[in-house]
Amino acid sequence: MTTQKLADRVAIVTGAGGGLGAECARVLASHGARLAIVDINEEAALSVAEELKRAGHEAIAIQTDVSSESDVKAMIERVEESFGQIDILHNNAAVLSVEQRKLDRDICNLDMAAWDRAIAVNLRGAVLCSKYAIPVMLKRGRGSVIFATSGLGAQGDLSLTGYASSKAALNMLPKLVAAQYGKLGIRGNAVQIGLAPSENAHSSMPTELLDILRDNHLTPELGTPRQIADVVAFLASDESSFVTGTTVVADGGFGSHTPSLVAMREFFAKSGGGSM
Ligand SMILES: NC(=O)c1ccc[n+]([C@@H]2O[C@H](COP(=O)([O-])OP(=O)(O)OC[C@H]3O[C@@H](n4cnc5c(N)ncnc54)[C@H](O)[C@@H]3O)[C@@H](O)[C@H]2O)c1
Repeated sequence: MTTQKLADRVAIVTGAGGGLGAECARVLASHGARLAIVDINEEAALSVAEELKRAGHEAIAIQTDVSSESDVKAMIERVEESFGQIDILHNNAAVLSVEQRKLDRDICNLDMAAWDRAIAVNLRGAVLCSKYAIPVMLKRGRGSVIFATSGLGAQGDLSLTGYASSKAALNMLPKLVAAQYGKLGIRGNAVQIGLAPSENAHSSMPTELLDILRDNHLTPELGTPRQIADVVAFLASDESSFVTGTTVVADGGFGSHTPSLVAMREFFAKSGGGSM
């Protein structure tokens, strides 16, 4: 459903050149927000901004490496110059390329350059964007800062050490935003996302792996980018005006069950006892 609940708002979505970020931008725009489409991939950012403009929305594309302080500072200045205000910052960008995921392994086999990249983009990038966007939000005394995190930032897994550590730290940032600027009208929240496959990050995932992950979600299917974008739109809008300093879990129950659930489900199915 689309509304005008963000009609007077300006939103920045980082990593909006594709995947969940692009869908978040579409949904925020559909609720009336003006959008800054920020991505390291200029062509991708331009294409999403053009798509939004063709659909009748206001959007600009800004090529930015969120791990670079000078890039982020210039990006925020450009958004303020273009739109005169910033109300929503969705820190969605993360480095998730196939090469990165191959190198970001278990601790003993971790490529330290991959670790540094994960922390620089996923964590430092979110801090930098917040550092420069919040002062602009404070001028109008309102703002919503959102961080994209993951179940991997809350539970141990076999690989992606840098990614998981960066996402764990992102659960702290909404609390800091809320504590430091809440009385001045700024809210901070994170969205802990279950698997909502997007083309770049998941097209290379083998079907068997997707099946294992689907079995571990408590919904019939894995998530969709739209389901995540709807939660982001909620956190961006005044509908969530009393929600701050927390992590909203939108993970299809991935993090809610006992570790033995999938094996138990198979056991009961085989033994014909009970139904799970
Ligand atoms: N899709 C999922 O199932 C899922 C699950 C859990 C968490 N998440 C989180 O959601 C967010 C989006 O994930 P996705 O699946 O859409 O990933 P994606 O790889 O499709 O999109 C990430 C975007 O970030 C951009 N980016 C990468 N490095 C950047 C940099 N230095 N500066 C600016 N932009 C940069 C990429 O170009 C890309 O457009 C990420 O934070 C991810 O950790 C996604």
